[in-house]
Amino acid sequence: MMKKKVWLKCVTGFAVTALVLSLSLPVSAKTWKIAVGDSGGSPQEQTGIKFAQVLERETNGNYKATLFLNGQLGSEQDTVNDCAMGTLDFSLLAINNVTPFSPTVGSLSLPYVIQSIEEAEKLTQGEIGAELTQNTIRDANVRIIAWTYTGFRVLTNSKKPVKTLKDLKGLVVRVPKNAIMIDTYKSWGINPTPMAWSETFTALQQKVVDGQDNPYMTVWAMKFYEIQKYVTAIRYLFSLEPLIISEDLFQSQSPEMQAIILKAGKEATLHSAAFLKKSEDNIKKELVNAGMVIDEPANGEKEWIEKATKAVWPKYYDSIGGKDKLEKILNMLGRSI
Ligand code: MLT
Repeated sequence: MMKKKVWLKCVTGFAVTALVLSLSLPVSAKTWKIAVGDSGGSPQEQTGIKFAQVLERETNGNYKATLFLNGQLGSEQDTVNDCAMGTLDFSLLAINNVTPFSPTVGSLSLPYVIQSIEEAEKLTQGEIGAELTQNTIRDANVRIIAWTYTGFRVLTNSKKPVKTLKDLKGLVVRVPKNAIMIDTYKSWGINPTPMAWSETFTALQQKVVDGQDNPYMTVWAMKFYEIQKYVTAIRYLFSLEPLIISEDLFQSQSPEMQAIILKAGKEATLHSAAFLKKSEDNIKKELVNAGMVIDEPANGEKEWIEKATKAVWPKYYDSIGGKDKLEKILNMLGRSI
């Protein structure tokens, strides 16, 4: 039998060790789920990783976030619903898949409004971004806490080089289920095929559709170069991919935790901009090395710009909050309608 003194020493030793462990190690870290529409290597993943790192750092490991890539948790539009209902914590998705739930967000998806990454940063990180965040909370019960910058959506297809709107004729092009993008293609003279992002790779592979548009970074991360050959470097839509949090989850947090979530989002946003600036040119070269052929649209994209802005902008003035709203955005960028 263990002597009483030795036994007491052991018990005390265990207690001290347990106390030290409980102070330094999270007993059971809370782990949140982040749905991610794109695959590994994508700008979306970069934003998610950075967010999770800062969250863990700022909470001494008491909070973690796990990424579920490649639409494992559902189509991007479904994840907005899931966050709204509080059955999913976070989602990283393209802005065009948020617009159906909060139409004013469409102001940043109108064709040819954003013309550079600097303009994208200025709008999303300033007054306009803050206003859109409030609108998504009001309309969809989700809060934008970070922005991913993915670059201009370029058109890819498996059939032929496309430089003019005439070349576009006859192609079956997949677009997200987003009215602004559907109307943009209509203004260019074709009827696009709306389809969920999670179904797009297979549809391209099985030639249900001939083409789609997404940024170079996404084309690379999703390995579209294996099934698409021709790229047209149009610049109609600068892809923004927010990280959203369920507003119910956000509101259930203490003020300190809310501040940490917002801080992690801010750092993830800055990281995303730096990542795109550092990576996009190289990725473009990789796509050419992988066999893709990149063409510039003819005449500086003149006919594409004219048709889209003339037909699409006025149609969406009401849904984005009025013509004044677009005027304000363009004025901030030193332009006007
Ligand atoms: C889409 O085309 O639906 C989205 O841009 C996909 C994405 O999240 O990259």
